[in-house]
Amino acid sequence: MNHILIENITKVFIEKFQSKPIFIKSPGRINLIGEHTDYNEGFVFPAAINKGIITAIQKSDSDFCTLISIDFNEEYTFSLKNLDPIKNGGWKNYILGVIAEIQKKGIEIKAFNIVFGGDIPIGSGLSSSAALENSIVYGLNELFKLGLTKKEMIFISQKAEHNYVGVRCGIMDQYASMFGEENRALFLDCRTFEATKINIDLKEYQLVLINTNVKHSLSESAYNDRRSVCEKVASLLNIFALRDASEEDLLQIKSKISEEDYQKSLYVVQENQRVQQAVEALKNNDILMLGKLLYESHNGLQNQYKVSCEELDFLVKKAKENLNVIGARMMGGGFGGCTINIISKKATPNFVKEVSELYHEKFNNECSIYFVEISEGTHLLKQ
Ligand code: GLA
Repeated sequence: MNHILIENITKVFIEKFQSKPIFIKSPGRINLIGEHTDYNEGFVFPAAINKGIITAIQKSDSDFCTLISIDFNEEYTFSLKNLDPIKNGGWKNYILGVIAEIQKKGIEIKAFNIVFGGDIPIGSGLSSSAALENSIVYGLNELFKLGLTKKEMIFISQKAEHNYVGVRCGIMDQYASMFGEENRALFLDCRTFEATKINIDLKEYQLVLINTNVKHSLSESAYNDRRSVCEKVASLLNIFALRDASEEDLLQIKSKISEEDYQKSLYVVQENQRVQQAVEALKNNDILMLGKLLYESHNGLQNQYKVSCEELDFLVKKAKENLNVIGARMMGGGFGGCTINIISKKATPNFVKEVSELYHEKFNNECSIYFVEISEGTHLLKQ
């Protein structure tokens, strides 16, 4: 994608602003396992991928900033003095949020222009939003020599999402997008923000993503609701976060909370254990075990944490029925987006053909198949 997209972005930038920009590439992410554990200060296991956003940025001669989205074919001009979130502002709020969060740190920036585009399908659970936020904060840091560290940048991105988009997300997406490395997944501790990089070699298997191409509404409020439940249970247990809870601890307070909240909390405790087991399995080249954990994770997300949907469950069910698919689960926040599958390389063509047909029959809608590579995190593109 890089080449054509960069040419296109450059052309638009020079025509519109008559100056030469710098380019930042910021990737989306997958997550092998560890869903809804990040905001519980637990463990996740994501990796950056070769789908991403490219942002061109340069200082502006005027007092105004102009943003151009190639993919949405939209343009927006604003003053740095007025950064209020826009109602139904979509992509614009991610950018305004990042600028506002930089300003909140007492850092001053001057006006600039941006043209950006990419190939991460929106709403697919591949974190196009984190990729965009990171590309903006990284670009501003380069352009104005702000001296921010990568860690400071990802927290700015995360806060932009909290305060300008209204999703109280964890740190997984921004972390993976910023710190990703080729062929390596990040076993991240979301309390210490330290990650161990683990080589991903799945032997005769490969990762395949299947996009349901649906994103059910209300997923944002459902996300925040889940987070509130976890926080409520943690405070009942007198601990900082569910990361510190054991299954026994939860049993102790079971009578004080609803069955739904108990199951949600239990899911978090168990998912945290699964992430650690998955890392061990990979270290021992036990790909079958890794696959098994993925199926268990989906089961928890579907039945305990309740963030799946009919389309995702259908894809995982079909995967399970096929012995060549050794693991599958929904990925990301839920309520739509992609499943991640571990499939025998030889059997992949048949499986994806079959599942695509079945999906079409069932939902009268197409699913999309992506083969992704594990790639480098946010970086400046050399010209
Ligand atoms: C979204 C959020 C992440 C994480 C996942 C679920 O992608 O942005 O912080 O909570 O959902 O694991």
